Amino acid sequence: MAISTCIFDAYGTLFDVTAAARQAAQEPEFPHLVDNWVELANHWRLKQLQYTWLRAITKTHTDFWDVTQDGLDWAMEATGLSGDPQLRKRLLDLYWQLQAYKEVPQMLRALKAAGMQTAILSNGSPEMLDGAVRSAGLGQVLDDVLSVESVGVFKPDERVYDLVGRRFNCQRDEVLFVSSNGWDAAGASGYGFVTAWVNRNGEPIDRLPWKPQHVLGDLSSIPDLIGG
Ligand code: LAC
Repeated sequence: MAISTCIFDAYGTLFDVTAAARQAAQEPEFPHLVDNWVELANHWRLKQLQYTWLRAITKTHTDFWDVTQDGLDWAMEATGLSGDPQLRKRLLDLYWQLQAYKEVPQMLRALKAAGMQTAILSNGSPEMLDGAVRSAGLGQVLDDVLSVESVGVFKPDERVYDLVGRRFNCQRDEVLFVSSNGWDAAGASGYGFVTAWVNRNGEPIDRLPWKPQHVLGDLSSIPDLIGG
């Protein structure tokens, strides 16, 4: 079946989650971040995601803003930065205005020009996603922003992926689901979406029962993928 709807994960896929720590490391107030911002960003992201999975399987949902703060607190302690509330505040503020990857606006414009329905499907809370979409100026090229908050559980629970068919009235195999998170692309493949895993850093593929149909280096080839 032909693709009618392109759905994007948000954090790590459209928005660069390492941008907050990278930016803070360039600011004069935080010279101690210069040497370890990469380590901090990696710990932060990993803990944030682990907490989403753990909260989903233990049925103790809280929103993505909470797990983002919990992940940061763990990461700051692990990197010896716990005693810096000013840094904590700055990193959290920056998370509301993450940069989009540079190819994102043009890629989304091309999809809209080709008549595709486009949306975000994200763990993010509606408020966080609204902040990120606004600061990246993507409001005009997205038909909707779907948050897991409407079902109260994180990905890859299938109730999250169900939101797409409900909103766009399409079959699973008419959806191209794009994520840079290997586990999210795998989960969406298992659900029945056509999937593209954006593997910017050349990571090994996740050893899960489902594999993405497409593996891309960045987002720029998505319009061609649809066309083909
Ligand atoms: C999201 C997380 C998985 O945006 O990055 O859903």
